[in-house]
Amino acid sequence: MKKNLSPGRVLFSALAITVLTLTACSEPKPEIEQRIDEILSQMTVEEKIGQMNQLSYGDVAASSMADDIRAGRVGSLLNIVDPAALNELQRIAVEESRLGIPLVVGRDVIHGFRTIFPIPIGQAATFNPEIVERGAAVAAREARASGVHWTFAPMLDISRDQRWGRLAEGLGEDPVLGAVLGAAMVRGYQGSDMSAPTSIAACVKHFVAYGAAEGGRDYNSTNVPPYLMRNVYLVPFKAAIDAGAATLMTSFNDNDGIPGTGNKALVRDMLRDEWSWDGMVVSDWASVTEMIVHGFAADEREAAMKAANAGVDMEMVSGSYLEHLPSLIAEGLVPQKYIDGSVRNILRLKFRLGLFDNPYTDTSAPSTDYAPEHLAAAKEAALQSAVLLKNDGVLPLAESTRTIAVVGPMADAPHDQLGTWIFDGQKDRTVTPLAALRESLAGRATVLHARGVEYSRDRSTSGIAQAVSVARRADVTIAFVGEESILSGEAHSLADPGLQGAQKELIDQLARTGRPLVLVVMAGRPLTIGDEVKAASAVLYSFHPGTMGGPALADLLLGVASPSGRLPMTFAREAGQIPLYYNHNNTGRPYQGNETMIDDIPLEAAQTSLGNTSYYLDAGAEPLFPFGYGLTYSTFEYSELSLSGDTVPVGGTLDITATLTNTGSREATEVVQLYTRDVAGSLARPVKELKDFRRVKLAPGASTRVTFTLTTDQLAFYGLDGTRRAEPGEFRVWIGPDSSTGLESSFALR
Ligand code: BGC
Repeated sequence: MKKNLSPGRVLFSALAITVLTLTACSEPKPEIEQRIDEILSQMTVEEKIGQMNQLSYGDVAASSMADDIRAGRVGSLLNIVDPAALNELQRIAVEESRLGIPLVVGRDVIHGFRTIFPIPIGQAATFNPEIVERGAAVAAREARASGVHWTFAPMLDISRDQRWGRLAEGLGEDPVLGAVLGAAMVRGYQGSDMSAPTSIAACVKHFVAYGAAEGGRDYNSTNVPPYLMRNVYLVPFKAAIDAGAATLMTSFNDNDGIPGTGNKALVRDMLRDEWSWDGMVVSDWASVTEMIVHGFAADEREAAMKAANAGVDMEMVSGSYLEHLPSLIAEGLVPQKYIDGSVRNILRLKFRLGLFDNPYTDTSAPSTDYAPEHLAAAKEAALQSAVLLKNDGVLPLAESTRTIAVVGPMADAPHDQLGTWIFDGQKDRTVTPLAALRESLAGRATVLHARGVEYSRDRSTSGIAQAVSVARRADVTIAFVGEESILSGEAHSLADPGLQGAQKELIDQLARTGRPLVLVVMAGRPLTIGDEVKAASAVLYSFHPGTMGGPALADLLLGVASPSGRLPMTFAREAGQIPLYYNHNNTGRPYQGNETMIDDIPLEAAQTSLGNTSYYLDAGAEPLFPFGYGLTYSTFEYSELSLSGDTVPVGGTLDITATLTNTGSREATEVVQLYTRDVAGSLARPVKELKDFRRVKLAPGASTRVTFTLTTDQLAFYGLDGTRRAEPGEFRVWIGPDSSTGLESSFALR
């Protein structure tokens, strides 16, 4: 048994969590700090506060915006993507304001600027940090050329709720996957030098726990307690900050009564004092003044005071800093040193972006929008993000297939396949699956097309007969179903995340033809599609795949490539099971898998006769598909698990190795996953935790030994004594294809 080493069991309060590890996140540059000192020494209080004010271009009359910039009342703009207009405003800032401080321009570049990549949850399904980094680098290159200096991404909100629309923008339910991919996105956006004309500053958001919205309803309160906050929700943020993230956005939600934008314990005390982070904190859109609506501030003045004292450097659009900070400072309610610290963080960002030396956007540079290499990267990302959930052998389509029916509302939906948050994406550049299949099959096979259902919410069944008649004339039907982009993203939550409209009816009728039916689901979230999976011969799940989704899906369907995506979130069978996630703690009475279900309960059964375990009488306790799950066109076998020892000293490492064999007849990529379980700790630990993963490509018949080196640090967590460390004791370990299965062994940490 593991010993609890905690001497004094501290109450892990919001205050106690401020005394933990100290990490320097980025190297301060003395020459920059010196230039900041010089500027600060010349600034009036009003000019300092002006730097803390961000305006949205287009929401303020052009003339008054120019006047405000000239007077030093604006530090940043968002939502301006016209480089010529920006250059003119920048000229006013640099040449006509007293101190000539350039503006920094932000924009939501979430999964591509012009070339749209799969939505982030889709990118997470690649389990491939290189793909994710490349996608962010492409977005940065296109965005910076349009005058954008700074993106509000990556969104690192862990979500365990399939109803929450914004999970589309996140990296899934797992903290380690989120940490690895979030850090990769930061590297991609920022490059090695943020001042390069191909780089933009990243912004990790939404700080913090926003994805734990009660009931999956956006903006809703969260109640994440301190240990869970540390061990799950903060993990990707810490990793992205360690990777050099330049900025961070506070969240809309109140966690246990404290809105993210007013949370001093987490923003100022933890980020600054504990993590020693020198980046810049921006509020979310009007989240400073929304603290009044929350009931956390009586008026704008109190809201401004609470946000500034909490450590929010820049206020997005709500203007309360400009209005109220002067008197709050004068009255000593906001310390001057906080203001100086905030301005320092803002100026540092501008220096890091090279804006003092090069404030303008080169409007004569040739456009890199949709450069061939950008499109190729977007196609590869879409290809690796699709997850094969079921295949009775119909995929890939046989070469001999002569007639293919392409049906469904998402087969030719150029806007909707781009997904949420595509402010600068252009649907006329989208290549849809219908177009791509027609092109790939030209001269080889006939593609018949009928939508069946016009758009995902369409309840009309009037088009289904035509789709069925097309299906009857084809060797195989591919039905592209899913969600329009508007059904996911900000403020787009669903109480019942199933297929909408008449899509179920369409699938049912297609299945009744008795002919092979392939479902391709393009959606913003994991949908509850148990019945549809049953009805189909094969299911390929593509979260909204972006500009090049069509060619990527065509390659997968036709067998030019084998699917290699894995689920970054658990798929629930039905909404009532949510929240459902793999890395939960155990109950004292876990589900056994053979429980009596509702239809089998004898009449007047005795109260305790069902066994008293943790499950739903009507839905069991298991997901439709587990986290990490995904098939390929080949098969893989795991064997010969070996550990470099059966005990590891604290501070040491352990090699865990298994043989992976491609037992099928095609080359394919397996995502090999390493999980552990800390059997007993000072806190109850999750039943499984992803520790590492690797994409391994193997030719048919080939074998390889896959080794993961597990460090003690990977076993560490914040325990009852408030420190982050690995607690000695017994661990179980798995190498396998997903979170529900694998070869198992154990070791002890001594
Ligand atoms: C969203 C942020 C976004 C901001 C600026 C807010 O509504 O929550 O994620 O970056 O708007 O557009």
